[in-house]
Amino acid sequence: MNYHQFIEDQIAAIRKEVGSAIAINALSGGVDSSVVTVLAHRALGAQLKTVFVDNALMREGEPQRIVKIFAELGIPIDLWDARQAFLGALRGLTDPEQKRQAITDTFYRDVFGAAVRKSGAKFLFHGTILTDIEETVAGIKRQHNILSQLGIDTEDAYGYRVIEPLQTLRKDGVREVARLLGLPDEIARRIPFPGPALATRIVGEVTEARLATVRAATAIVEEELAGTGAFQYLAVLLNDCATGIRNGRREFGQIIVVRCIDSQDARQATVRELPWETLHRVTRRITEIPGVNRCLYDLTPKPPATVEYI
Ligand code: XMP
Repeated sequence: MNYHQFIEDQIAAIRKEVGSAIAINALSGGVDSSVVTVLAHRALGAQLKTVFVDNALMREGEPQRIVKIFAELGIPIDLWDARQAFLGALRGLTDPEQKRQAITDTFYRDVFGAAVRKSGAKFLFHGTILTDIEETVAGIKRQHNILSQLGIDTEDAYGYRVIEPLQTLRKDGVREVARLLGLPDEIARRIPFPGPALATRIVGEVTEARLATVRAATAIVEEELAGTGAFQYLAVLLNDCATGIRNGRREFGQIIVVRCIDSQDARQATVRELPWETLHRVTRRITEIPGVNRCLYDLTPKPPATVEYI
């Protein structure tokens, strides 16, 4: 595919479809929503309103970092602090599906839904890519950003039309377009990060304290394993504790699992054979996090395991 031509064609198509109306989109900082943001901004300028929802589940400094990257590209982002809404919706939940549902509902019904209604937007951009459509239609995955493919008429149901400029591209194509649009490598080559964010890496209840723990572990894992070139690497907080010793005293501490996988498209994955030296270094740093006294390396491929823990 000629990606230069793709960009020109999409910008022209967006202008034609939106006309002089207002459009809105949610930016997560992932490569798909980032590319959509730049494309739609180039096509529409100030007619586009882009919202970044801080759901309390992001990585260290992530909301501010993403807003800054886009500011440098001349694209204003509206940062919405919805932390309490998400933390409140997650309080007391331990079942994985209930946690996922609470996050989806809070996002679409309460937070972003309200932003769309308030903006008066008639068009909403989604970063749906070809793989999302294929997996949803095949029943492998329920992607929340697929509506029309499931026969849901958003204009009828919600009063806005959804535009999906990336629906002919796969991930490698999106990364190429990201590069051509001038997005930095930290976005264009970003490793996958799930929509429900760090909540997928906390087994049991999501609380601010437990988020702080998994956030600290995530920062260490991402820093130590960035050079591996692996498909994805992550840290998970288990819902169990184990006895350990800290400063000469027994401590019933928390357990972090580290995962580092190779994969093409996350449908299957193998575990990276990391050097012992790297594993020891990661373990040493992770057990310096207050309250964490064990670090485990997950050797399970997908299947039977999934990548995330909820
Ligand atoms: P699993 O855990 O299903 O993950 O083996 C496969 C890939 O998908 C990512 N993932 C998600 N991405 N929303 C997303 O946008 C989600 O709810 C979600 N759950 C998992 C995961 O990080 C991995 O790359």
